[in-house]
Amino acid sequence: TDAVTDTPVKATPALPDAQTVTEVTHWTDKLFSFRCTRPASLRFRSGEFVMIGLMNDPDPKTGKVKPLLRAYSIASPSWDEEMEFYSIKVENGPLTSRLQHIKVGDEIILRPKPVGTLVHDALIPGKRIWFFATGTGFAPFASLLREPQTYEDYEEVIITHTCRTAGELTYGRELIESLKDDELLNEVIGEGFWKKIKYYPTTTREESPKMGRITDLINSGEAYKDLDVTPLCPDNDRAMICGNMAFNLELKAMLEEAGLEEGANSKPAQYVVEKAFLD
Ligand code: A2P
Repeated sequence: TDAVTDTPVKATPALPDAQTVTEVTHWTDKLFSFRCTRPASLRFRSGEFVMIGLMNDPDPKTGKVKPLLRAYSIASPSWDEEMEFYSIKVENGPLTSRLQHIKVGDEIILRPKPVGTLVHDALIPGKRIWFFATGTGFAPFASLLREPQTYEDYEEVIITHTCRTAGELTYGRELIESLKDDELLNEVIGEGFWKKIKYYPTTTREESPKMGRITDLINSGEAYKDLDVTPLCPDNDRAMICGNMAFNLELKAMLEEAGLEEGANSKPAQYVVEKAFLD
């Protein structure tokens, strides 16, 4: 037969919604980040999350393979050509025990349906914005710190990150240091935008320049003193919270006590909260 009239052999993607891994960085034995290609049609707002994962091993009875997906905050900003994710490695975690072994060129599944409340749209205008993170809860802020709107909307940006060990702070610290050289932010916001940022890293189980839970450091007033800022107030301050459950609840109660109200996409207000992914 004539080759031209033959049914063309279509390149079938090995996975539904497959994206290719372009970079993997291991930060500690428990933390890694990776970058992958971005679906051409995917639009998202900085701070949102998507479902990502891998194909499961075939079911021993049926032989069928199903995707194994988890919610992951997108750590890259909305303008980035690629996608970035920041993940914990859990030894017996169904997904992360396998995801931690991905290499450049491997494929992952990325469902292109972004959602989430840690978005600028869910907050009403204010002077300062606080980003409160623990552990991998830093991920959505890695996106929002690279988002020009953050610096357009606020005079001051305060990012706090509490981790158990100093090594767990590295991803966040390097990202914040890299902002100084961020071409887009320098071009759009103007050089010196990064001087609006106040970074407050703390550790709880290993020696570091600032020890303690951010909640305790705020309650005692020590954080305000260290940062040289006035206490949280509903007129000036907006906040986003992302960390483990106990932290989210404690900080939420503190913000409510200070007079801030929780916002949502449908009803913007003064703060928003989201649980960091746990395998
Ligand atoms: P701590 O070591 O005192 O528990 P995890 O790794 O368990 O998710 O915790 C990440 C960080 O969040 C740790 O430094 C931990 O401190 C801190 N943390 C846990 N619970 C709270 C809370 N309720 N308020 C403030 N920080 C918390």
